[in-house]
Amino acid sequence: MSLNKVFKLNTGAAIPAIGLGTWQSKPEEVYNAVKTAINSGYRHIDTAYAYGNEDAVGRGIKDGLKEAGLKREDVFVTTKLWSTFHRPADVQKGIDESLASLGLEYLDLYLMHWPVALTPGKGSLFPRHEDGTRDLDAEINGDFTITYGAMEKLLESGKTKAIGVSNFSTHNLDVLLKSAKVIPAVNQVELHPYLPQTKLLEYCNAKGIHLTAYSPLGSTDSPLQKESVLIEIAEKNNKSVAQTLISWAVQRGTSVLPKSVTPSRIEANFQDYKLSDEDFAKINEISSKHSQRLVSPDWGVTVFHDDQ
Ligand SMILES: NC(=O)c1ccc[n+]([C@@H]2O[C@H](COP(=O)([O-])OP(=O)(O)OC[C@H]3O[C@@H](n4cnc5c(N)ncnc54)[C@H](OP(=O)(O)O)[C@@H]3O)[C@@H](O)[C@H]2O)c1
Repeated sequence: MSLNKVFKLNTGAAIPAIGLGTWQSKPEEVYNAVKTAINSGYRHIDTAYAYGNEDAVGRGIKDGLKEAGLKREDVFVTTKLWSTFHRPADVQKGIDESLASLGLEYLDLYLMHWPVALTPGKGSLFPRHEDGTRDLDAEINGDFTITYGAMEKLLESGKTKAIGVSNFSTHNLDVLLKSAKVIPAVNQVELHPYLPQTKLLEYCNAKGIHLTAYSPLGSTDSPLQKESVLIEIAEKNNKSVAQTLISWAVQRGTSVLPKSVTPSRIEANFQDYKLSDEDFAKINEISSKHSQRLVSPDWGVTVFHDDQ
């Protein structure tokens, strides 16, 4: 049995606590993964332009909803503006391309994927200079508030019901909130017991920004699967380490995006459970002994100020 929790966004909309992650899911796998997820009870799917699978995710949503007898409004769909689309004129293009690939009329949430602008028109999603350094967009000059201002205008078009950010530190949120007319509905960040993001969670709670946990299982080849505290708690409760990690994230008030292309895991990951206060506290303690960030691209600019 899933706890089937939802959280309220500052827009008034509800975001289902458990969403299917789709990073590194190949198109031919993710179509079935999304259908399996919807049939297993998931009502929240996370993708991104940069994952290169929006088309297959969109087909999975369409066919999954049909099979389950559901409608578009029954599922919460998030995608993300890629860093080569940060110029205001390109923001509109970014969402239009994503909507076309997904085959959707609107998104539930559109996020700025990273607070980093990369030079467009270089034929690459990750352009670099000849010396190997990142080709950061000089026209934006590190000012993500310009991009966010263009994203705010998307709300008027009805192409997305909410906007937000991803990989934003408290420092960058402070900068953003100085000029933002619309408080981001969500900040999506890496979050698991090795990186509990306690400072960021408190900050976001105080500002009315919902935090979503990405890489909640510890991503590919997760070190968390071997964490003895988690194994002990999972065994005691007759649950898996993944179910325990997902339950912990939800119990902290964050939505959570476990990724899988394995049908049995997709189904099992949706079955979260109530952790006892004692187990919850033990998981909170893990980072005092082992702290680790798993997704940390070298952007050539500081992104994770809260780690310093
Ligand atoms: N905003 C961002 O910058 C950002 C960055 C990273 C991730 N994300 C989002 O967050 C989602 C989740 O993060 P993630 O993909 O890095 O990693 P994750 O969900 O923490 O872990 C995925 C890995 O765990 C495996 N797994 C899934 N369920 C399992 C289970 N029950 N038992 C054991 N292993 C299991 C998966 O394998 P199989 O697939 O083979 O089953 C895969 O190798 C992404 O897919 C994406 O949607 C966002």
